[in-house]
Amino acid sequence: MSATIYQPSADFVQKAHVAGMAAYEALCKEAETDYQGYWGRLAKELISWKTPFTKVLDESNAPFFKWFEDGTLNASYNCLDRNVEKGLGDKTAIIFEADGGEVTKVTYSQLLAKTCQYANALKSLGIQKGDRVVIYISMSIEGVAAMQACARIGATHSVVFGGFSAQSLRDRIEDTGAVAVITADNQVRGGKLLPLKSIVDEAIALGGCDAIKNVLVVKRSGADIAMTAGRDLWMADVADQQATTCEPEWVSAEHPLFLLYTSGSTGKPKGVQHSTGGYLLHAALTTKWTFDLKQDDVFWCTADIGWVTGHTYITYGPLALGGTEIVFEGVPTYPDAGRFWKMIQDHKVSIFYTAPTAIRSLIKAAEANDAVHPKSYNLSSLRLLGSVGEPINPAAWEWYYEHVGGSRCPIVDTFWQTETGGHMITPLPGVTPMVPGSCTLPFPGIQAAIVSETGEDMPNGQGGILVVKRPWPSMIRNIWGDPERFKKSYYPEDFKGKYYLAGDGAIRDEKTGYFTITGRIDDVLNVSGHRMGTMEIESALVSCTELVAEAAVVGRPDDTTGEAICAFVVLKRALPNTDEGKAIAKQLRDHIAKEIGPIAKPKDIRFGENLPKTRSGKIMRRLLRSLAKGEEITQDISTLENPHILGQLGQAY
Ligand code: WTA
Repeated sequence: MSATIYQPSADFVQKAHVAGMAAYEALCKEAETDYQGYWGRLAKELISWKTPFTKVLDESNAPFFKWFEDGTLNASYNCLDRNVEKGLGDKTAIIFEADGGEVTKVTYSQLLAKTCQYANALKSLGIQKGDRVVIYISMSIEGVAAMQACARIGATHSVVFGGFSAQSLRDRIEDTGAVAVITADNQVRGGKLLPLKSIVDEAIALGGCDAIKNVLVVKRSGADIAMTAGRDLWMADVADQQATTCEPEWVSAEHPLFLLYTSGSTGKPKGVQHSTGGYLLHAALTTKWTFDLKQDDVFWCTADIGWVTGHTYITYGPLALGGTEIVFEGVPTYPDAGRFWKMIQDHKVSIFYTAPTAIRSLIKAAEANDAVHPKSYNLSSLRLLGSVGEPINPAAWEWYYEHVGGSRCPIVDTFWQTETGGHMITPLPGVTPMVPGSCTLPFPGIQAAIVSETGEDMPNGQGGILVVKRPWPSMIRNIWGDPERFKKSYYPEDFKGKYYLAGDGAIRDEKTGYFTITGRIDDVLNVSGHRMGTMEIESALVSCTELVAEAAVVGRPDDTTGEAICAFVVLKRALPNTDEGKAIAKQLRDHIAKEIGPIAKPKDIRFGENLPKTRSGKIMRRLLRSLAKGEEITQDISTLENPHILGQLGQAY
């Protein structure tokens, strides 16, 4: 951890929603003394209920906790209608900037009208409350409207990131049992036209998507695409004729708002199931307190709606508060690496939330070329910065603070997960003295702690396992269709089923008690802020049956992407020479892109006649990690069955 402490300015503190350490401590105290009273009060303040709840938390069937269960509400009503009713109808809800720079804005009234038309379109196809709808679309106003439309009719959406392959999409369609897919003809990234609809066709053709009745296609590029009669429909053909009003479906607070697939320690991604009431409460509350969102802010979260960050801090949180937000299509480096800084300048962004991996790659670009350095842009509109998805290294933090935030903007380093729904450990910008590299203190009401393998509290200064001791409103409710896996993954017997296991290691500072996340303790890698299971990549590799006999995947540190994927592969043929090795490595990368998506392509591939194993046949992963890092092997290899292969594994392709 860095030693320098950065204080929020007196001016920031004075105007903040949560102002000063005493205010933070009072909230923590309130939660400690009356946990249900605290969350109940906030749920009444931040959410509009159709029928008020009479009970805050039901722990009778732990760990399947229920929050506000007899209350009814609608997430889309809370994000749209309610703002129009408050007089914000003409306020800009979304400023959309396309890959080529074209800007489209929608007001709250317009977004509500579009959402209602989409909702009516879904209803006209027979889609109803409880049905699942998969959304496979790139960043767009239509993508947000599609999610809101599902919420409006009580259909559970499952957004699949547009970078996933047909195979991954198929797996998710099958697991959700979705009745429809909403997609676009194409997506545009970095000046390139990439397919979406044809990948949906491919996914469905792979089989197992029997519940799918319709594919709704939003027009993005207008390029020629194939449409299957009786199944595929242009969204405009169904939606444009629909009424611009649609009575929301009032659902129980526990109704599943969405499923979002994420990697775990087995080969099969898990469908994280979130609720409506508790989730929306934390989305709105964290947007208010962590991002200090005010009516005149322009908020920009650069995440994709295919990830949880895009769900909570694009589709739900900022809209629930009536904020104005940016949605951008494309990549941070096109047309050049000044895109973020230019967009902040052009749209007068005041709150900016991005991932360390993006910052690190933009630092490199800025250092090589003044024209794309933040100093070449007017970033004076910024007042707050945020970071998410992976640990931010102190050097990147300091650069972000100085060059982007002009040494005046607090940085909120927000630790959370797909499963937690919203921020768990984070500075509050008008409260917390910041230490680069530390996500500081728990959000008020979140009982985060560090324990030993047997669940004993660890003293500050000693690392351990990160847990959450009490259920919180926006927590994961279940793994879709697999309650046993839910219990095993998150409420393991090691802690007597009482604590939520985050899957990360952490340490608290001896003096300040600040948390620093030390990384995953399971077989999950974090590459450019994307979660990837090593087993998932291993399964993809061995599914290349003509080439691969065995494979093991580990992570190694990488300056830009945080972690990089390294694959160790035993081929079904003799060890390749250098040229063959290159060709086979390319073939394997292409195979993984097809099985999972390009984001899962290993950076290094190494070949050996075998993997380093103990005499009992266990792969020595620790040794693989050292090899991946290019470290000299100093560990004891006397138990190694086959030491000669270490030499073979030295070469990375
Ligand atoms: C990691 C993204 C350190 C962590 C919202 C976690 C972080 C995983 C931080 C969840 C942070 C996320 N500092 N590590 N501020 N934020 N992580 O589900 O390992 O895509 O378990 O959710 O990212 O990734 P996920």
